[in-house]
Amino acid sequence: MGSKKMMIFVVGALLVCLSATGVLAEDPYVFLEWKVTYGTISPLGVPQQGILINGQFPGPKINCTSNNNIVVNVFNHLDEPLLFTWTGIQQRKNSWMDGTLGTMCPILPGQNFTYKFQVKDQIGSYFYFPTTAFHRAAGGMGMLQIHSRDLIPVPFDTPADEFAVLLGDWYNKGHKTLKKILDSGATIGLPNGIHINGQSGKVGSAPLTPLAIVEPGKTYRYRVCNVGLRTSINFRFQSHIMKLVEVEGSHTVQNVYDSLDLHAGQCVSVLVTADQAPKDYYLVASSRFSKKPLSSVAIIRYANGKGAPASPELPPPPPENTAGIAWSVNQFRSYRWNLTASAARPNPQGSYHYGKINITRTIKIANSRYQVNGKLRFGINGVSHIESETPLKLAEYFGLADKAFNYDLVKDEPSNDKKVVLAPSVVNATFRNFVEIIFENNENTIQTWHLDGYSFFAVAIEAGKWNPEKRKNYNLLDAVSRHTIHVYPKSWAAVMTTLDNAGMWNLRSDMAERAYLGQQLYFSVLSPARSLRDEYNIPLTQQLCGIVQNLPKPTPYS
Ligand SMILES: *[C@@H]1O[C@H](CO)[C@@H](O)[C@H](O)[C@H]1NC(C)=O
Ligand SMILES: *[C@@H]1O[C@H](CO)[C@@H](O)[C@H](O)[C@H]1NC(C)=O
Ligand SMILES: *[C@@H]1O[C@H](CO)[C@@H](O)[C@H](O)[C@H]1NC(C)=O
Ligand SMILES: *[C@@H]1O[C@H](CO)[C@@H](O)[C@H](O)[C@H]1NC(C)=O
Ligand SMILES: *[C@@H]1O[C@H](CO)[C@@H](O)[C@H](O)[C@H]1NC(C)=O
Repeated sequence: MGSKKMMIFVVGALLVCLSATGVLAEDPYVFLEWKVTYGTISPLGVPQQGILINGQFPGPKINCTSNNNIVVNVFNHLDEPLLFTWTGIQQRKNSWMDGTLGTMCPILPGQNFTYKFQVKDQIGSYFYFPTTAFHRAAGGMGMLQIHSRDLIPVPFDTPADEFAVLLGDWYNKGHKTLKKILDSGATIGLPNGIHINGQSGKVGSAPLTPLAIVEPGKTYRYRVCNVGLRTSINFRFQSHIMKLVEVEGSHTVQNVYDSLDLHAGQCVSVLVTADQAPKDYYLVASSRFSKKPLSSVAIIRYANGKGAPASPELPPPPPENTAGIAWSVNQFRSYRWNLTASAARPNPQGSYHYGKINITRTIKIANSRYQVNGKLRFGINGVSHIESETPLKLAEYFGLADKAFNYDLVKDEPSNDKKVVLAPSVVNATFRNFVEIIFENNENTIQTWHLDGYSFFAVAIEAGKWNPEKRKNYNLLDAVSRHTIHVYPKSWAAVMTTLDNAGMWNLRSDMAERAYLGQQLYFSVLSPARSLRDEYNIPLTQQLCGIVQNLPKPTPYS
């Protein structure tokens, strides 16, 4: 007791000193060192070259608490440039560390770079992945989980344990081969299988190591992310129901489900109680809305079950086709934000009453597929994004935007003509605007989208065409605040957010082939004040490349 008091006193004294310089006591740090190498992995049972972090695939879990500072020193031992993004981590005022090619220069082979960012006002389940050279097809991804701070109540009892479940589709071809196919203007086609935590199993021949070992009567949290390249997945536990507690950083109303759809790039947390006869059970992951049915199983083992085998009878998947889409849309609509659960909230001014804020801008985003000189491209509103040699954020910060890109090639309304422009795509967005983004999908395949730097309220998904009348159908009360949204074939989805995080932020298809071939853009959100209050200065250690490589850093914000 005495020593604790002493510590508080010491910290208090430090605070007084620091506040004299305008600096407040810093939040705790998590220091990590990552060695990124190639190594042999067998996600589908066939050995192939993969990307390992500290020898692991999936990569190490980043476990932290709201407001922690994360410092990751990444050593690139690959033969290609490397970057990581922390999908869903908002990087408040700090797009410098976002890890997309529009914000950072890649880490060259043989070099290292130290990411430093804060998981400010966030809780929940996220993941990281490499954004360069189609590396995502080879591994390099892992879970990033943020616990609530001790004093903040969590709206469910502390689970007996937590299990990270990273699942996704997988290709037997290596990332270099896949990249070559894309660069030649062809599609990589459909994947070869589905893995769960880097392994795949069939009934009767599941991996020997159980995914989880559970004690009878206890409740466990499974944080599940779809880290795949394109395929929507449905997951379900044999004989056990799931209570949904979190979707991408928001505590939800705790409905129970037999199975859940999880689209590329999405994460959820479910609670599962070990309340069945003691033996093994399968966790099943199967493809959804895909021409090629794929599935995989993993084992959940009761500690007192003596390894008695799981029943070969798997819980059925939800319907496919039209009935399946209706089923899935209903499930989406059943996700509600628990408004009474206390939690860190990223943009409090926009959070509670988002339905009462006037929309200042409506941006309609339509995905399309093109052939350009015989090569496959994807795009948004007639613009297919290509990477600029100089990261867009750096070009803009150094006052050289006009040398690197043109703003606003993408208009707020999709055009009907079939022409496409290939260019770096940056939309000039106004700081603190409250925007509505409508995603229109006129294609026959499901789409998933992700926005960096923000969470948004996912207020509606409907079949057909959007028009302003549809706003009457929005959930303006308790839509989940999240960072991804999926759009069914020939349907639309609407999200809303306040653009209060200054920086350069990537909006991308979460389907890796589409993003790689141009279905992405950046929102440039600049604070007119150019003030430290709104955006951090470029870090001293930031790597420079392209046209800014040898330039002195601009005058810092104050
Ligand atoms: C993860 O972090 C939480 C809180 O920060 C801590 O209670 C827990 O023990 C950590 N778990 C692991 C496996 O490090
Ligand atoms: C590279 O790693 C060394 C050794 O840990 C470290 O001192 C240095 O700051 C790192 N460089 C960068 C650019 O992060
Ligand atoms: C919402 O959170 C509150 C506060 O923690 C909790 O008591 C309540 O059970 C939750 N409501 C639902 C419907 O999950
Ligand atoms: C929103 O717009 C309406 C109608 O234009 C206006 O009356 C109202 O004052 C606005 N509300 C806010 C909060 O600006
Ligand atoms: C971006 O928009 C703001 C107004 O919102 C305007 O002042 C600024 O000139 C625009 N910048 C460019 C490069 O178009």
